[in-house]
Amino acid sequence: MGRIAITGANRGIGLELARQLSARGDEVIALVRRPSDALQDLGVEIIEGLDMSADDLSAASDALGDRTLDVLLNNAGVLQRTSLDDLDLEAVRWQFEVNALGPLKITSALASHLVEGSKVAHVTSRMGSVADNSSGSHYGYRMSKAALNMASKSMSVDLAGRGISVCVLHPGYVRTDMTGHNGLIDTHESAAGLIARIDELSLETSGGFWHQNGDRLPW
Ligand SMILES: NC(=O)c1ccc[n+]([C@@H]2O[C@H](COP(=O)([O-])OP(=O)(O)OC[C@H]3O[C@@H](n4cnc5c(N)ncnc54)[C@H](OP(=O)(O)O)[C@@H]3O)[C@@H](O)[C@H]2O)c1
Repeated sequence: MGRIAITGANRGIGLELARQLSARGDEVIALVRRPSDALQDLGVEIIEGLDMSADDLSAASDALGDRTLDVLLNNAGVLQRTSLDDLDLEAVRWQFEVNALGPLKITSALASHLVEGSKVAHVTSRMGSVADNSSGSHYGYRMSKAALNMASKSMSVDLAGRGISVCVLHPGYVRTDMTGHNGLIDTHESAAGLIARIDELSLETSGGFWHQNGDRLPW
């Protein structure tokens, strides 16, 4: 059992992560903009008013008070298609703000709540893998997740001395609002795999990039 803060716990993969972690006895703290009915029905603690596109996320630290976190699970993210033919720079910037800077800002804001043995897990996408990119396009999403991957690697270096491990995890192609409910797996399978990967994360494996099914992914 541990205390786990999850961003984007309102719906989709984040909501299911909150449900499964809470069901097994972990203390879940949902960090959200505005809580959904489904999240409220879980009965977990909710810290609201946290938009990952905001510069100042210190309200999350204030709400935690002197409590420490066993896991910070940065799951909130956005996807908007961007192409070379009709480049929407605002869409690219917005995805950077939420997908890359959001996890950086909230991890920095909550760094003082992490202690020896704590873990930071970022939900990225294999679309942020340079080596895995064979279909192109999606500039804002791919670039923002690649930047998140780099931030995660730097955090693993910076936090190792404090005994804190860090990873990036691909949740699979999951049926959620983000994918228009297309996908290969449901949120239950995705969340179960993500939780297993977080459980087995250690200082020895810190800094890695995994699929929720356990496969190592190339950068
Ligand atoms: N679904 C897939 O196949 C897939 C594949 C690869 C990676 N991922 C990644 O998995 C994560 C979860 O995706 P999902 O499929 O569950 O998507 P989703 O159903 O669209 O849910 C996205 C979640 O992120 C939150 N969020 C979005 N923008 C936010 C902001 N500015 N501030 C705070 N919260 C924000 C949403 O909160 P609101 O309810 O307030 O909007 C929602 O809880 C994302 O990081 C995504 O990139 C998903």
